[in-house]
Amino acid sequence: MSKGIFYGIGVGPGDPDLLTVKAARVLKECDVVITPTKKMGTDSIAFNIVKPHIEDLSKCLEMNFPMISLSAEREKLEIQWKRNADEIEDLLNQGKDVAFITLGDPMVFSTYSYVMEYLLDREIEVVTLSGIPSFCNLAAQLNIPLTQGEESLGVVAMTQPIEEIRQILDAHKNIVVMKISANNQLMAEELEARGLEKSFVLVSNIGMETQKVVTDINVLKGKIPYLSTMLIKKDYPLFKD
Ligand SMILES: C[S@@+](CC[C@H](N)C(=O)[O-])C[C@H]1O[C@@H](n2cnc3c(N)ncnc32)[C@H](O)[C@@H]1O
Repeated sequence: MSKGIFYGIGVGPGDPDLLTVKAARVLKECDVVITPTKKMGTDSIAFNIVKPHIEDLSKCLEMNFPMISLSAEREKLEIQWKRNADEIEDLLNQGKDVAFITLGDPMVFSTYSYVMEYLLDREIEVVTLSGIPSFCNLAAQLNIPLTQGEESLGVVAMTQPIEEIRQILDAHKNIVVMKISANNQLMAEELEARGLEKSFVLVSNIGMETQKVVTDINVLKGKIPYLSTMLIKKDYPLFKD
């Protein structure tokens, strides 16, 4: 019996209509859909996005990916990734095609990429389907270009060391800050220190009913949802007063 194919499917940031035609087709045709979840028994955001595209929900299989710090608890995470890769490999060995759904794009800060690496090492056929990254949809929703002409774009996660974040902030005209809720108060201070308090926009829950746009630095200092992404534009009139 030939082995199944492992698909990584980017489902976009929130709006189910942003799934690619190819992703919708693979979700329909595959034998198993892996829905990664932080806590077993709770629907993941990615699952809620693809639900309208899956006729037979009984082929969905929940898989646990705990939300713990990569830098502090990498060993624990690696054990879980390997265990999950083993479970997926078993299904593929049974000749089943398995699709793994992931928020936004699979190659941007995604747990999928670690599982993919384990499976590639075992010479399994892996097909990754791009999804719309959260920051691209943020820009599109607000009609703000990410880059123009000769400009550069820096992408950083607020979980990185602050020295690295500062370097990116200083090096680029346009900066995307992901996982901003990890330390949004610190980012507010960094923006103020550079006179950029009016040069950012933060969007939470992009593409969902709860989507919220923030441009007030004082709101940035308060509590914000995990699904929040910031765009900093140094030379662009973001919003007229
Ligand atoms: C683990 S990363 C996943 C990134 C994802 N692969 C992508 O392409 O956007 C999680 C971070 O992505 C961003 N993100 C993902 N979906 C989002 C959404 N619907 N609204 C706002 N930010 C989102 C946030 O910065 C969040 O902290």
